[in-house]
Amino acid sequence: MEKKWWHGKTAYQIYPKSFLDTNGDGIGDLRGIIRKLDYFKDLGVEILWLSPIYCSPLADQGYDISDYYGIDPRFGTMEDMDELLSQAGRRGIHILMDLVVNHCSDEHPWFQAACRDPEGPYGRYFYIVDRPADGSLPCNWRSAFGGSVWSPLPGHPDKLYLHIFHRKQPDLNWENPEVRQEIYKMVNWWLDKGLSGFRIDAIINIKKHLPFENYPADRADGLCSIEYMLANAHGVIDFLDEMADAAFRPHDAFTAGEVFHEKEEELPRFIGDRGVFSSMFDFAETLLGQSPLGWYDNKPVTPEMYKAACFASQKRVEGVGFLCNIIENHDEPRGVSHYLPPEGRHTAGKKLLAGLNFMLRGLPFLYQGQEIGMENRRCRSIDEVDDISARDEYQVALAAGLGPEEALAAVNRFSRDNARTPFQWDGTENAGFTDGTPWLPVNENYREINLSAQMEDPDSLWNFYRALIALRKSPTYAEAVVYGDLIPWLREQENLMAYLRKGEEKTLLVLGNFQNAAQTAVLPGAVRKVLLNNLHEFTAEAGRVQLEPWQFLILEVAR
Ligand code: NOJ
Ligand code: CA
Repeated sequence: MEKKWWHGKTAYQIYPKSFLDTNGDGIGDLRGIIRKLDYFKDLGVEILWLSPIYCSPLADQGYDISDYYGIDPRFGTMEDMDELLSQAGRRGIHILMDLVVNHCSDEHPWFQAACRDPEGPYGRYFYIVDRPADGSLPCNWRSAFGGSVWSPLPGHPDKLYLHIFHRKQPDLNWENPEVRQEIYKMVNWWLDKGLSGFRIDAIINIKKHLPFENYPADRADGLCSIEYMLANAHGVIDFLDEMADAAFRPHDAFTAGEVFHEKEEELPRFIGDRGVFSSMFDFAETLLGQSPLGWYDNKPVTPEMYKAACFASQKRVEGVGFLCNIIENHDEPRGVSHYLPPEGRHTAGKKLLAGLNFMLRGLPFLYQGQEIGMENRRCRSIDEVDDISARDEYQVALAAGLGPEEALAAVNRFSRDNARTPFQWDGTENAGFTDGTPWLPVNENYREINLSAQMEDPDSLWNFYRALIALRKSPTYAEAVVYGDLIPWLREQENLMAYLRKGEEKTLLVLGNFQNAAQTAVLPGAVRKVLLNNLHEFTAEAGRVQLEPWQFLILEVAR
């Protein structure tokens, strides 16, 4: 495998709206990110992905872009962006933006022009069709946020346009070469400005299986998940290869695809040496327990399920490329609330989850607040929920016969708001996020969970993450941590997640006792050194190590 500039780094996702507000309007901003660049330097993070900050009506929190070349005034100005790029560069920090090109906003000039003249050139930028005379829809696909993917074209009751996501996010027509050229031009414009690359949103959806056709309905609404269409769609890689040649490859950009439902045989073309992307996120764990019926029907994730999914992902990409490893992002519940059972939701358990995920082969991608163990937020009423997908899932649960309280409980477990509450900087009002009123309330636990307290505590989760990041860069161990083979260890031992990272010189054993009871584990060789321990106890004798409840260890072992 070819070595790449980004392999040994640690990446971090910023959700700008909730990061740090510097002008008291309750909305995080670019100046807030600039102010905290030294924080990342200190933590050891070298790649930052910013969720969208482009001009947007924020119908889907910026994933609905009305001007790809502009910064939304709520986040700052282009001067702020330029300053962020240069200040980050001075600190050796790379900036990625979010590339949202499956769709734009219905307020983008392209869509406005399409509405004015659906038969004109901009009509072909989108999927616009005549409404069938019998009042039916061109196909029965369900949009990601509920209801049909088809909505009437404003001003043209006889026409419909396609939106896989919200109706304010019309899909761009990638079959049209003019659309593709416009996109590549924009991508190059940003890369020329000094951006190091992109996280690429919802990208599998750009290739539609045409002509539009129905698939068997999978819910009582008579609609079907978009997955059925995607399974039949072929050719996404050809579009992406063209984009990579036109923009990514000439800039040696780092790109991380948000890819779901890829075809197995396409994996090398996605992230292999000549892949269209540098990497893609591993969503296998996030998909565990998910029901096709909706959030209300999701099953809990057990440690055994988590372990199996991580190892399966590692196996899939062995010899192919690097995945981006995550425990959460802005679309997911907080990892510590989702993967740890209630009895493990303490500092030791959080460190275990941190270490097990961070030490997997691939690029660790932290999400803001993960480093201090931020947790899900509990809403007492659906009116407190901002997230459009959570509001839809609440209705889905009610329609399935759940009472309002049960439906709210489901929403509380999976709402995207969980990860979007403001960053908890300190124990002062609003967790130090803003002097004004935060756009989304701060999690009530900010007095117990905040950065300032954790920076002072040598045993904090934050200091543990810092140690993990330092290990990934340490001259002695980096080779094993970054490139070492991953070999599952004692795979069948229940609630033990353990693996070897076998480098050229060093072999590491990563051990996590994923339960509330002690257990012992056989060692593959003599212990040379304890590199990281989330507890103070360490007992190894007669070829076995004693693991306390929730204990996590990284050991250097003889090979
Ligand atoms: C994935 C993004 O992460 C999510 O937040 C967004 O709603 C959809 N794509 C649509 O852009
Ligand atoms: Ca602000």
